[in-house]
Amino acid sequence: MKPYYVTTPIYYVNDRPHIGHCYTTLLADVVARFQRLVRGAPTPDGPDASATPEAVFFLTGTDEHADKVSTAAAERGLTPLEWADQNAEAFERSFEDLGFSHDDFIRTTQDRHTAKVPGYLRELVKAGDVYKGDYVGWYDEGQEEYVPENEAREHNYTSPISGKPLVKRTEQNYFFRLSAYADWLRERIESDAGFIRPEARRNEVLGRIKQGLNDVPISRAIGDTPPDKVWGVLMPDDPEHRVYVWIDALFNYLTAVDEDGRRAYWPAEVHMIGKDILWFHAVIWPCMLHALEKSGALKERFGDALVPGCIYAHGWWISEGRKMSKSMGNFIDLAQLKAYADRYSLDALRWYLVTQGPLGATDADFAHAKFVEVYNADLANGIGNSASRVANMIAKYFGGEVPASLSELSSGEPALRSTDSWVALAEHCKRVSSKVTYALQSLDLTETTELGQSIVAEVDRAINAERPFSLAKEVFKLPHPESSTEFRFLAAILSGYAEALRIASVLLSPVMPEKMAELWRNWNCAPPPGATLEDLCTFGGQHALKPGQAIVKGEALFMRADPDEPKPGAGD
Ligand code: MSP
Repeated sequence: MKPYYVTTPIYYVNDRPHIGHCYTTLLADVVARFQRLVRGAPTPDGPDASATPEAVFFLTGTDEHADKVSTAAAERGLTPLEWADQNAEAFERSFEDLGFSHDDFIRTTQDRHTAKVPGYLRELVKAGDVYKGDYVGWYDEGQEEYVPENEAREHNYTSPISGKPLVKRTEQNYFFRLSAYADWLRERIESDAGFIRPEARRNEVLGRIKQGLNDVPISRAIGDTPPDKVWGVLMPDDPEHRVYVWIDALFNYLTAVDEDGRRAYWPAEVHMIGKDILWFHAVIWPCMLHALEKSGALKERFGDALVPGCIYAHGWWISEGRKMSKSMGNFIDLAQLKAYADRYSLDALRWYLVTQGPLGATDADFAHAKFVEVYNADLANGIGNSASRVANMIAKYFGGEVPASLSELSSGEPALRSTDSWVALAEHCKRVSSKVTYALQSLDLTETTELGQSIVAEVDRAINAERPFSLAKEVFKLPHPESSTEFRFLAAILSGYAEALRIASVLLSPVMPEKMAELWRNWNCAPPPGATLEDLCTFGGQHALKPGQAIVKGEALFMRADPDEPKPGAGD
């Protein structure tokens, strides 16, 4: 087993965290939490953990060497680093508030990054993949990137992202020989359907490669800035140039693990990104890594394979049906997200973002009415209600203790076995847990959430069909209820419902870690450290609810929400 490595983009430190940053990081968080479960490494390993085969490493951070950082700092009378420090801290704090389980947070201004980038570039120069030349192009100052001529023309020489005018620039630059890798990249993408996901993004990249790839500039001249005042990383062996901020940033994924104890994490299993930064991640980055791979320069440290397993590019959030904009008043910033978390719980917010978000090719709308609808249907009336119903019945009829042993039942009376819903539930759980592993391999988070929910739905269906509350009425009318077959039947089906919900809670926990931990505390069934998803999801297996084990009713996990209540505001 190779240790698992998942990354997010590193965020521009000039901006304040908003739904876009939080969403990409949330998806990576869910993937990391699932993988820890799959591998039996349930807690974040933290920055000191070494890359043991079952370890999971989840990296996020900030991209700090953009020109706009030094401009904004100057406007405030600060050094770029002082300004970057403030904003990087805001990102780190927000990510902690949102409960993300990253193992490390990298900043491109840290020595561990800046000290290593020139080394990789030196290897590319040595291998003949980097050369010096003239570049003339249309520069998007907001995005810190050049826009290809055809795209610039199409957008009337304004930024396709911000709409601001593009600036014509001529520069002497170092170029990466991207054109030399077009065929390799096309073949790589064509031969591996999972390399660029989802499929629409894969097709988009293939379409663009077919138009041909030009070499790309990877440096900027520093002009008359003294080298010690340069905001960025200098090119190796040429202090007149600094590394282009995008190239500097991409290397963060590698620098973070290029140290003793961590190298086995490389190559990353998945780079989680948004669709707007697909080109850099799906074209330039793999080709640069392949060039390094070919040169053999990093072989001793990282082995033969350097290209990541998957680039997953999600779509964008819009808000209340329109593109988000600060001036339109529909911008979902951190304060707005926190207001949702405060009113409905952080896990409800996570659930909404993951299940209703733009995981696929189309954008998704953050709409208050939809939030409340999903919250009530999936959470308050879903897992929340189902868990309360089952815990209430166990409290009422069996003094709050799991009444039957599921492993004993399976070897018990045929009369019980053939009629019990737990047999069907056990089979359903078995099917679900094998499908989850498959869904995770293809990063199909929608499927994983649906599978977890399908168990809750099965339990509800069984309760409605078997009506245990009516059965209980009859049972307790009997002179010696406890020695009756009906009593044992009631015990069996209730234990089966509870066991199925335990398994559902494990599957739902990567998206809703806090609420599921609350359920586990009440039901005394927290997964022990090191337990694997497969074992945890075995119905009646080693982690099953045990007879006599206390099930505390606790408070409702999710209170029903009033659809007429106005949306939570930042001032709530
Ligand atoms: N610094 C670069 C990334 C360098 S990675 C080597 C960058 N940073 S960013 O701050 O602009 O954040 C990018 C991430 O936020 C992307 O994944 C992007 O898709 C995401 N989002 C920004 N706005 C978004 C939405 N409205 N909706 C969803 N995600 C969006 O690009």
